[in-house]
Amino acid sequence: MISKKTVKDIDLKNKKVIMRADFNVPLDDSLQITDDTRIKETLPTIKYILSQDASLILMSHLGRPKGKVNESMRLAPVAAKLSEMLGFEIQKVNDCIGADVKKAASGLKPGEVLLLENLRFHKEEEDNDEGFSRELASLADIYVNDAFGTAHRAHASTAGIAKFLKTSVAGLLLEKEIYYLGSVLKNPERPFMVVLGGAKISSKLNVINNLLEKVDAMLIGGGMMFTFLKSRGINVGKSLLEPEKEVEAFEIFRKAQNDEKELIFPVDVLVTDKIAADGKTKVVEVNKMPDDMAGVDIGPKSIKLFKKKLQEAKTIFWNGPMGIFEIEPFAEGTHEIAKAIAGMKATTIIGGGDSVAAINKFGLAGKITHISTGGGASLEFLEGIVLPGIACLEDK
Ligand code: 3PG
Repeated sequence: MISKKTVKDIDLKNKKVIMRADFNVPLDDSLQITDDTRIKETLPTIKYILSQDASLILMSHLGRPKGKVNESMRLAPVAAKLSEMLGFEIQKVNDCIGADVKKAASGLKPGEVLLLENLRFHKEEEDNDEGFSRELASLADIYVNDAFGTAHRAHASTAGIAKFLKTSVAGLLLEKEIYYLGSVLKNPERPFMVVLGGAKISSKLNVINNLLEKVDAMLIGGGMMFTFLKSRGINVGKSLLEPEKEVEAFEIFRKAQNDEKELIFPVDVLVTDKIAADGKTKVVEVNKMPDDMAGVDIGPKSIKLFKKKLQEAKTIFWNGPMGIFEIEPFAEGTHEIAKAIAGMKATTIIGGGDSVAAINKFGLAGKITHISTGGGASLEFLEGIVLPGIACLEDK
């Protein structure tokens, strides 16, 4: 099991700390943050560091500006939100390296916070460039990584920098993510059930294979169910399909059968003639999908079946919506499963961008044991990959 030193294992007094966070938050057209979860989740680490009389330099990426300055991807909205959350004005510079940044960083006093500009305005960040890593490292005495959401990227600020500072440790959010996605799912209280959905089977095959060995039951919905169904010769009409993944999907059926794992699929589906709120819809048995319609949600019998099964679970991991929940008439399956999971006493863990967006949309986030801040990172972690942003930190 991964066991990394954290900010609590080191002496921070009068030190300068440079901390990588994942402030890659969604912004609307007027550059207002529409979901500040990722910022809120770093507050325990930030507050702890400041409580130890250290000064703090924060850095993050936002979006994918591809190595160029992009005015709509500046971190100013994050600086404003953080100042509001912390109750004092944090400092902000317009770059992440260079003379002005050095000056601002060296002038920081214990208890003060400086936010650097979007790291990805420099191509060197994603190139994991040594010179760039060294420049970032030169600003501080200690490196802290609390950016679980970006820990699957081997970039200068998430991995390279650790080589150039004597002390590199995890933040409290990173520690929490490792605990829930690592320890809890490795030794879950049983029965352990996984609910998987989302559009594409291709992005989840490795997770499915890795988790299938550990679960007592796996329930599959979302767009990816159609490739599974098709691999068993079931007609799926115009539903989303990845024909090149049918063989691998069929292999998963076989593996589940051999290992005596319960693999549960919907028994009915909501189909539509148009992927839009005004499309004509009907519920059909899973093996009676019309040629000219597409499946967009799990049906009511499936909802009942999934809910009943989940009642037995002591640990549940959920990743991926059951249907196209962003379109109201196709949201019921995802909403019902979210409500069921939120209402349970079991340890409930949600990972991945879309299921997190869903749980937030339904206002149920407060009822979940742990919601991961990682999309791609949580999937790679669950595939069993050692994430570079974790590997570079000191072992306990
Ligand atoms: C995310 O939102 O998943 C992370 O911030 C990583 O962003 P990226 O996929 O652009 O590297």
